[in-house]
Amino acid sequence: MPSFGNVLVDPPLVLAPMAGITDHVYRLMLRRIGGVGLVTMEFISSEAISRGNARQMRKMVFSDEERPLSIQIYGSDAARMAAAADIVEELGPDVCDINMGCPANKVLKGCSGAALMGDLPLARDIVRKVKRRLTIPLTVKFRLGLDTARINFLDLGRMCEDEGVAAVAMHARTARQMYTGRADRDRIAELKTSLSIPVVGNGDVDSPADALEMFRQTGCDAVMIGRATMKNPWIFRQASDLLAGREAREATLEERRDLMLGHFRAIEAMAFEPKEAMHKLRTMTGWYTHGLPNGRALRVRISGLETPQDFRNAVSEFFEGLATVDAELIAVGA
Ligand SMILES: Cc1cc2nc3c(=O)[nH]c(=O)nc-3n(C[C@H](O)[C@H](O)[C@H](O)COP(=O)(O)O)c2cc1C
Repeated sequence: MPSFGNVLVDPPLVLAPMAGITDHVYRLMLRRIGGVGLVTMEFISSEAISRGNARQMRKMVFSDEERPLSIQIYGSDAARMAAAADIVEELGPDVCDINMGCPANKVLKGCSGAALMGDLPLARDIVRKVKRRLTIPLTVKFRLGLDTARINFLDLGRMCEDEGVAAVAMHARTARQMYTGRADRDRIAELKTSLSIPVVGNGDVDSPADALEMFRQTGCDAVMIGRATMKNPWIFRQASDLLAGREAREATLEERRDLMLGHFRAIEAMAFEPKEAMHKLRTMTGWYTHGLPNGRALRVRISGLETPQDFRNAVSEFFEGLATVDAELIAVGA
């Protein structure tokens, strides 16, 4: 099993940071399902936290049950990033990660995220200054480069290794690509053979079997999964079963229902504004009903609902309906 510094990542499966998604409730839900070796927070602005922004500080709430946990920070000013590292260190997560891969314009304009790949001296300065403030391991997440003409992940990876970074994660697309095309896994294999620190492979893993395929194709030390966890929150448990040579089991209807209702309750309890709770509930229902028989009917119904209680009723009734259909099918021997 890989270790990032002194942090063992077991199983070698990592939850990708996703802004607006991988909040406290989401991370806890995946932890409780099991099979994930390290969870990552959504990215945190070093500018905002070093100025004491309450909303960003609230995002950094986590509980021991989530460990090992990584907090990801981003920014373009080395002094502010160092100040943010002090705050992270004080909060006591297991790992601190620097974002050098975010392609969003808002972040690029401030020369942070993937834009740092276009300025390696600045990237080095940030890594060095942040590292100096930390006792916990530092990791860096990046892409292939800014665009196909400026692919420089090997230089960036080597710089990270020189500066004492504990592990790197690579989403194998350029920043220009955003999420189009396919992640180029050969590049992850190249990075792995060029570095001696652990390399985490990321991009387009869409099933438990594909996670194993990522290991096989790239030789990476751990696999990071993002979007696929929304449609299948059991993906880590299933992939870890496959890694251990066990069969991967599909979630039952009861498990799906309990997960949705449990997640909804947790969102309600954590949300500071009802609007925020409703927004999250709508998004989650979209994901969780994916692949369910007649899931579209539930999505349509939910789009018109006003309160979290209405949500819960709709979900309970939907699953009761599915159970009846199941029983009827069994009765007729279908
Ligand atoms: C909604 C969303 C938000 C994301 N936010 C972040 C982020 O805050 N920090 C980061 O490094 N990457 C972020 N990413 C990129 C993911 O961490 C990951 O690299 C990317 O989705 C590719 O992995 P996947 O194909 O398994 O989803 C985000 C991706 C999505 C879809």
